[in-house]
Amino acid sequence: MINLADGKHDPELLKAQACMESHLQIHKLHVSKMFILKDNPLSVTPILQVVLDPILTKPWHFVSAWFNNDDPTPFETAHGRTFWDYGGHEPMPNNFFNDSMASDARNLHGAELLQAQAHVWNHIFNFINSMSLKCVVELGIPDLIHNQGRSTHLAEGNLHGADLLQAQAHVWNHIFNFINSMSLKCAVELGIPDLILNHGKPMTLSELVAVLPIHPTKAPFVYRLMRILVHSGFFAQQNGSGDTEGEGYVLTNASQLLVKDNPFTYLDPILTQPWHHVSAWFQNDVPSPFHTAHERTLWEYASHEPKLNQFFNEAMASDARLVSSVMINECKGVFEGLNSLVDVAGGTGTLAKALAKEFQHLDCTVFDLPHVVADLEGSGNLKYLGGDMFEEIPQADAILLKWILHDWNDEECVKILRQCKEAIKGREGGKVIIIDIVVENNKVEARSTETQLYFDMLMMILFTGKERNKNEWSQLFSDAGFTNFKITPVLGLRYLIEVYP
Ligand SMILES: C[S@@+](CC[C@H](N)C(=O)[O-])C[C@H]1O[C@@H](n2cnc3c(N)ncnc32)[C@H](O)[C@@H]1O
Repeated sequence: MINLADGKHDPELLKAQACMESHLQIHKLHVSKMFILKDNPLSVTPILQVVLDPILTKPWHFVSAWFNNDDPTPFETAHGRTFWDYGGHEPMPNNFFNDSMASDARNLHGAELLQAQAHVWNHIFNFINSMSLKCVVELGIPDLIHNQGRSTHLAEGNLHGADLLQAQAHVWNHIFNFINSMSLKCAVELGIPDLILNHGKPMTLSELVAVLPIHPTKAPFVYRLMRILVHSGFFAQQNGSGDTEGEGYVLTNASQLLVKDNPFTYLDPILTQPWHHVSAWFQNDVPSPFHTAHERTLWEYASHEPKLNQFFNEAMASDARLVSSVMINECKGVFEGLNSLVDVAGGTGTLAKALAKEFQHLDCTVFDLPHVVADLEGSGNLKYLGGDMFEEIPQADAILLKWILHDWNDEECVKILRQCKEAIKGREGGKVIIIDIVVENNKVEARSTETQLYFDMLMMILFTGKERNKNEWSQLFSDAGFTNFKITPVLGLRYLIEVYP
């Protein structure tokens, strides 16, 4: 029994202590340490600082524009002068599923579809590896661990030849992970997946170049962009021999999910800029790096910036289309016995619309911030309502929270969940339906774990949220006064969680 009068048993203190103990491990330096320790002669820290500095990452946002102009390099498109000129004057720093595509991806279902989505996410977020490494080096973490003397098991003198080169390659690979994200962004901006899809048969390089909307001086560079995307599994070559001509590019499962109107929200400069402020955020008391970079929350920013509001909502809608198809095909039972449902923070209502169409007897309400639902009109059994989920949630048999709780910290989640509990109070069969990641340390599925960790970092950078494991979810539910919950793994990286009062 916890005695609240006794400071030693302060529940918050005990929780923090238990959490620290469960996470406390001795952090050892990997063999690659030699390349990221500041004072080591082999250190690539200066390269890392330069490569990931905003001056040098900015050009990555201009690669597709550069394909459309006659500037010699994307650097010049971004900064209006050459790299060398810049250095001379400034101190150089050391939806997924749109309608047309749905029919073309008709062969992708269930697990295959979710796997393709996970592949796309993994690559969009590859830049998180680069940025996390940059932050760790800026904070001096490798040096701190090294100076503690815990890593002496790997004396630097023992690293020679192949080991040394392997360690260097490991560091380079991570510094340059962002190239996967940015190359993919460029290909989508240029509409390459759509051009290949519309071609209807394998498309040779010269056929692709002929229809690409690019400046003639850039034609010779297309092969290089395609080569890295073939390597990362976004396109395939029918004969697979790697030559430039005679064989055609085809879409893979992953690039089927990239056809038209799939905004790369997470790679827009508004959302990548906070990554340059992560170590600064570690040293201030502002809630998130997004807030540090833009001096307001993402939701506040979106309410005043229609472009951000629109592309964020579109990205959410593209995911909701995919999730709706899986939910309706594989999880019908979840909606049995329900007469009303509120999709809380349901964006522009893609999922609720699909549910309302499938279950005609179910009254569906999309509830989101006023600026999100302002111009939207419902019909039949679907309606829109503006409001604040922290204040009050409309009454219904079920409350749906898709991709919401991971945006918020534990205290905020408990507040939202308590409002949900109020909204289903006294209703027979009342429940909260959550769609979110459940973190598993599944070493067999290393790629899935990596993508879950990317999301966890993303929640830390853009919001105040995090990804949670089963125990953390369980704690939230009991803190909000619920008695029971059930987790079903039907959505790839994300899970369906039903919570009962
Ligand atoms: C990550 S999006 C998820 C949208 C949708 N559920 C989906 O998965 O497609 C989070 C949503 O939370 C909404 N939101 C943020 N703060 C809110 C609040 N206080 N009340 C209601 N909705 C809010 C945002 O406008 C946004 O639509």
